[in-house]
Amino acid sequence: MRGRLLDDTGTAKLGGLNLTDEELLRFDNIVLTACGTSWHSALIGGMMLEDLARIPTKVEYASEFRYRNPVVTDRTLCIVISQSGETADTLAAMREAKHRGARTLGIVNVVGSTIARESDGGSYIHAGPEIGVASTKAFSSQVTALLLFTLKLARLRALSPVRGREIVDALHALPGQVQNVLDRAEEIEALAEEFKRASNFLYLGRGYNFPTALEGALKLKEISYIHAEGYPAAEMKHGPIALIDEMMPVVFIAPHDSVFEKVVSNVQEVKARKGKVIAITSRSEPSLEGLIDYEFRIPETLDLVTPILASVPLQLLAYYIAVKRGSNVDQPRNLAKSVTVE
Ligand code: G6P
Repeated sequence: MRGRLLDDTGTAKLGGLNLTDEELLRFDNIVLTACGTSWHSALIGGMMLEDLARIPTKVEYASEFRYRNPVVTDRTLCIVISQSGETADTLAAMREAKHRGARTLGIVNVVGSTIARESDGGSYIHAGPEIGVASTKAFSSQVTALLLFTLKLARLRALSPVRGREIVDALHALPGQVQNVLDRAEEIEALAEEFKRASNFLYLGRGYNFPTALEGALKLKEISYIHAEGYPAAEMKHGPIALIDEMMPVVFIAPHDSVFEKVVSNVQEVKARKGKVIAITSRSEPSLEGLIDYEFRIPETLDLVTPILASVPLQLLAYYIAVKRGSNVDQPRNLAKSVTVE
């Protein structure tokens, strides 16, 4: 974020887009494409873009996008998200979008990588080398970069300076808030001790934290080899609810946001079936009293920033469970840091 936030005007400055403000305003739709964790960032980015910039946005698995017949025109902006900048499917999706006339932007970590070179413009996330196969800091940085881009586009379109400044303030507070979560890692370690023998986990969230649930579940399965599913909390009743019994830990991402009350009713549904509820909350919530077994509190922030904060305890939970089970957290079996073949 350093050097990219403009406090006075409540917007962001991104040097590498290679697009003037006038050109940015010409697009009438956006497609975000990526794989794995980067696809989860894309889901959050897509929500932000529709919410704040009010532009129709689609989020696509790169491996699917490249083989269907998507509606992409020269009024489409295709945002390609990749930590490595080398994922074969993501690269092919970007080439396909270009071929169909779209303008491409890369949100990439590795400087000089193929996607960074072949995209028409973009923004480096500057997360530094990411060594562990399971992506963590790249995820946080991708979501942050997407938020900066959204802020820029939204301020050009309809977002007021006042709301823009609110977002800038929330971003300034974010590093300290992430540190606050990291400083309390031992709370998560204790939780990991409790659940290290579980064989299944369910992660549930709504709105901006539905993708956070997907990401939490992915981290756990990647490094601890525990089966985990992420689901939109309200969709649980259409299937996963059948799995819930006293052996099933259910992680709710439940910060005090616009969908909080709705999440509470989903917590009740799980509790009524004797599931073990672990809740990521952001304040003391009387409505959750008696419903949750374990709680981890993240600092309060704007709804759209909560995924960045809530994903940190989920990353730590996966990490501590994996360590306690004796898994190699840096190099999990069967996975590659960068998948450069189809
Ligand atoms: C692999 C990695 C994941 C990563 C995905 C996409 O599967 O193990 O951690 O999210 O590729 O990689 P990218 O470099 O394109 O973000």
